[in-house]
Amino acid sequence: MALNSPWRAEFPGIRALEADGQTYLDSAATAQKPQAVLDALLAYLAGGVANVHRAQHLPGERATRAFEATRSQAAQWLNALSSDEIIFTRGSTESLNLLAYGLEHLLPPGAQIVVSAAEHHANLLPWQQLAKRRGLELVILPLDQAGSIDLNEAARLIGPATCLLAITQLSNVLGRWQPVDALLALAKTQGALTVIDGAQGAVHARPDVQALGCDFYVCSAHKLYGPDGVGLLYGRSEALAKLQHWQFGGEMVLDADYQDARFRAAPLGFEAGTPAVSAVIGLGAALDWLSRLDQTAAAHEAALHAALLAGLQARPGVQVLGEPQLALACFHVEGVHNADLAHLLSEQGIAVRTGHHCAMPLIKRLGLAGATRVSLGLYNDGADLQRFFAALDNALELLR
Ligand code: ALA
Repeated sequence: MALNSPWRAEFPGIRALEADGQTYLDSAATAQKPQAVLDALLAYLAGGVANVHRAQHLPGERATRAFEATRSQAAQWLNALSSDEIIFTRGSTESLNLLAYGLEHLLPPGAQIVVSAAEHHANLLPWQQLAKRRGLELVILPLDQAGSIDLNEAARLIGPATCLLAITQLSNVLGRWQPVDALLALAKTQGALTVIDGAQGAVHARPDVQALGCDFYVCSAHKLYGPDGVGLLYGRSEALAKLQHWQFGGEMVLDADYQDARFRAAPLGFEAGTPAVSAVIGLGAALDWLSRLDQTAAAHEAALHAALLAGLQARPGVQVLGEPQLALACFHVEGVHNADLAHLLSEQGIAVRTGHHCAMPLIKRLGLAGATRVSLGLYNDGADLQRFFAALDNALELLR
């Protein structure tokens, strides 16, 4: 299992973890950062920081220019029509909460919000709580055996009462691309607003929001090999114009008196308080880094994933959840508690995620208490998988 990674040497975090005896296979939770991102962060932080959009002085102007340059890059990377369609948030979870508050006034009591059974809590709980606040119905699209949203059921469940569809592009548990185009077409026929959660998918296939034709798209920098604490909310300009402001303070204000205030339009009107300036600048470097990748990256991911699946499927009693297509595989082992397995893997220096993966309703629906997930980054190689499988075999020998 050679599967060498040409990118591994660019990731000091992977080298440091290796020196600690750790094999990192949890990139779906957060990815390690390439040197280019670390360099950009250090250059900004050590070069004299300043707040953005507030000051006339030189450091403030420089910081604002670098911050806004990332907005333009993000617009290009997502193929948005304009950088005004990009709002910086703290991450996908905050983007989705922003939408659930910002769109609340558009959803009349009795309307339906449609999500799928595969949603991460981030794309479930904001809509669930909105439904409770407003007396709306939350409709859950079921999955087929492979883990894809069942399109026949979706065609039955998405109807005239559907006001909003919010679905994940790629499940963080099942590792399947969802049939987003067909679902968006069904929702648009009903005139519903559409939200795509790209938190898990964006890093594996560059999103094209114009081709998708969604109203909103969200993703997080930390899963794109960028810093944590920052995410992107894309909104089609006509859709953004419908959003109500949700957090107040700082430079999102146009004019304020003691008893009343007026607010800026997107994007600045939705970026209350001091933003994560350094993280946004680091995100710019991550997008540059991602833009330089060619098809060898997808080929490496696919080869590693095939080796991961083959190794899991070859082990008796190991049951992979659904039919993952890329980047990750979740599994459970008959007669073995996932917490015991997690403990033994972790003792052997294997960093994988175990539990409900922030998708508790899905794990419950699958009849499990939890599952173990191996997820891959471009820096992983065949030796990582060999160490994982050796540790898995040791653990299962002890547990059975
Ligand atoms: N959503 C991240 C995961 O799947 C944190 O682990």
